[in-house]
This record gives sequence, C-alpha cells and structure tokens, in this order.
Amino acid sequence: MRPYHIAIVGATGIVGDRFIRVLEQRNFPIASVRMLASKRSVGRTLPFAGKQVPVEETTPDSFKGVDIVFLSATTEASRVFAPLAAEAGALVIDDSSAWRMDPQVPLVVPEVNPEDVAWHRGIISTPNCSTVPLVMVLQALRGAAQVRRVVVDTYQSVSGTGGAAVRELDEQTRLLLGGETPQPVVYPHPIAFNLLPHIDSFLENGYTKEEWKMVQETRKILHDDALPVSATCVRVPVMVSHSEAVHVELDRPMSTEEARRLLAVFPGMVVQDDPATNGYPMPAAAAGRDEVFVGRIRQDASHPNGLALWVVSDNLLKGAALNAVQIAEVAVREGKV
Ligand SMILES: NC(=O)c1ccc[n+]([C@@H]2O[C@H](COP(=O)([O-])OP(=O)(O)OC[C@H]3O[C@@H](n4cnc5c(N)ncnc54)[C@H](OP(=O)(O)O)[C@@H]3O)[C@@H](O)[C@H]2O)c1
Repeated sequence: MRPYHIAIVGATGIVGDRFIRVLEQRNFPIASVRMLASKRSVGRTLPFAGKQVPVEETTPDSFKGVDIVFLSATTEASRVFAPLAAEAGALVIDDSSAWRMDPQVPLVVPEVNPEDVAWHRGIISTPNCSTVPLVMVLQALRGAAQVRRVVVDTYQSVSGTGGAAVRELDEQTRLLLGGETPQPVVYPHPIAFNLLPHIDSFLENGYTKEEWKMVQETRKILHDDALPVSATCVRVPVMVSHSEAVHVELDRPMSTEEARRLLAVFPGMVVQDDPATNGYPMPAAAAGRDEVFVGRIRQDASHPNGLALWVVSDNLLKGAALNAVQIAEVAVREGKV
C-alpha cells in the first residue's frame, strides 16, 4: 500500500485533535501531513508522529499534491474548500453538514454502507455525530427484520459544539459553584447544571436543524427515503460522548435475546446490558473509546413490535474523526483514492 499525502483542515479544533490521534493509532499509511486551520493559528505547531508540524492558513492553494483531505473546520469553510480540494485531485472527507444531503456526495458509515464510497466524485461526507450510532443500531436489527419507525431522543455533550463550548461548561460550572452568575456566550442559556432542548437553529416545522439532520441522514445512509423517523435533540452538561434513547418499531416482534445477539455481533458495537450489576452504557465510560455501546435493551411496552434501547458513543471519535478515517481506509482498500 502506497503512503498518502494528507491534509487536516481544522487541525487545531477539538475534532482536529482526534484526527491526529486516530491517524497515528491506526497506522494510516502517511507520506506527509499538512496541518491547516485559520489565519489565527499560524505560528502554532501540532505534534504528529514524534515531530512538531507547523500550522498553516487554509487557502485555495493548500491542496496541491495532497491525496486525502480531512475537512473538519466550519460549514462555511467546507462549502469553500471541499470543491477546491476535489478539483486539485484530492479525496475530501468532509465532517460538516455542508455536503451531506447533496445527491452527488456519498454519506458513509463504513459498517453500514461502505459500498457508497465507490461512487464518490471527490467528496464524501461523514454523518452527524448522533446519526452514526443510530444507523449502526438500526443496521444491526435490519439483518433480521424490517425497521418500520424510529423515535430517538438524544443527550448530546458540549464537545459536539466544539472547543469553545467545552471551555464554557468548565467555566460556568466553576462560577456557579462559587455563587456567581455566568453569562452564556456559546449557547443561549447557561449549560452548567442545566440542559437545553435546542441544538442548531429552529425550522418552520418546529424541529431543530440537528433533529432534521438525523431524520434525513438516517434515510440517506439506510437507502430508505420513506423511513419514518422523529428526533428530539437535547444538549446536556456532559463534556464528551452523546447518548440516545432509541425506540424502534419493526415489522415483527423481536425478543430481547435476538436483538442482543444481533447487536453483539455487529462490527464496532459492544452490548453492555446487565441491569443486575448496574451495567449499562454511560458517556463518561464511552469517552475515548472507538466502539458504540448499547444497553437497556427491552421490549417497548407501547407496541408489540417495538424495542427500546440506550446507545452511547464518543462524538469526537466514532461520531467524527474515527468514522472519517475509516471512510478513507475503505477508499484506500477499494482503490478509490
Ligand atoms: N465536535 C463534534 O462532535 C463534531 C462531530 C461531527 C462533526 N463535527 C464537525 O467538525 C467540524 C469541526 O468541529 P470542532 O468541534 O472541532 O470545532 P472547533 O473545536 O471549534 O474547531 C474548529 C476548527 O476549524 C478551524 N477553522 C475555523 N474557521 C476556519 C477557516 N475559515 N478556514 C480553515 N479553518 C478554520 C479552526 O481553526 P482556528 O483554531 O485557527 O480558529 C479550528 O481548527 C465542524 O464542521 C463540526 O460541525 C464536529
């Protein structure tokens, strides 16, 4: 396998940091790496494979000679730089919502729809951090039954908003414990000792954009345009890892034993479901882990064909950097880069 010239756009961000670690850990075949960010970060260096790599400003000329670009900055930066990098001959794996619903752009979770990598035209999107674990659970169950309807409620950590939100939760927690009143900056209300049923902006249909992303992205990845999905996305004062309460209606009743078996053999998934010993997935335990954890698997008392589950995964890893690197690994394996 030949080594590849890589660029990480957004290398100084919280997901950028995970890209660096994931690429190192997985021994991705790398000939060179460019660390790209905004003008603000010029002068900084970032460690990679035992060396300090200077951070460069991202410009239209940044992609000459680059084979794979991991683009994880802002939606606006993705809109501008993804087409420029693709035109320069690179495969772009984009972490933002800019291209996910574009019919010319595959939206991929390698354990679910790796075949979609084949038809890329220079850009592949990685899904929203809450969509990734949801479609993995649904795909595992789809091995044995049809999914008829999905209702999902998320409990999303502040790192999903980026580094500034992590600092805000930290600061607000200290201020409140000291008896002071924090002024929210990143979110419209304080997030410490609180939760916000509001992620991204509100749409005319009453959902938020984040909720609607989950609906649309799930349908695209599963190739099921009519799948009924409803989501409520909630920001919670957790630093890392998103949790989800998932209610799935199938075309037939499924025992919890069968569901557990299907989930346990699905790649990248770990069943943690032992109520007798208080065994269930939790965000603090999932942080820093590659796997998607599932537990609290039970029959949905409100529907004969229903299952209820609790799913937790690290939003910065499987929800972002790890999934993107796994997409690149598929592209390398299939000769699509
Ligand atoms: N956090 C998550 O769980 C998660 C999950 C899935 C997808 N994503 C997506 O990943 C992307 C990065 O998120 P994050 O959480 O890492 O945010 P972050 O911590 O706020 O970092 C943002 C990064 O983007 C860079 N940047 C900003 N404007 C830029 C520009 N015009 N040109 C080049 N670089 C620019 C920043 O560089 P400076 O340091 O120079 O400002 C920084 O490196 C976003 O698109 C986000 O939607 C995040």
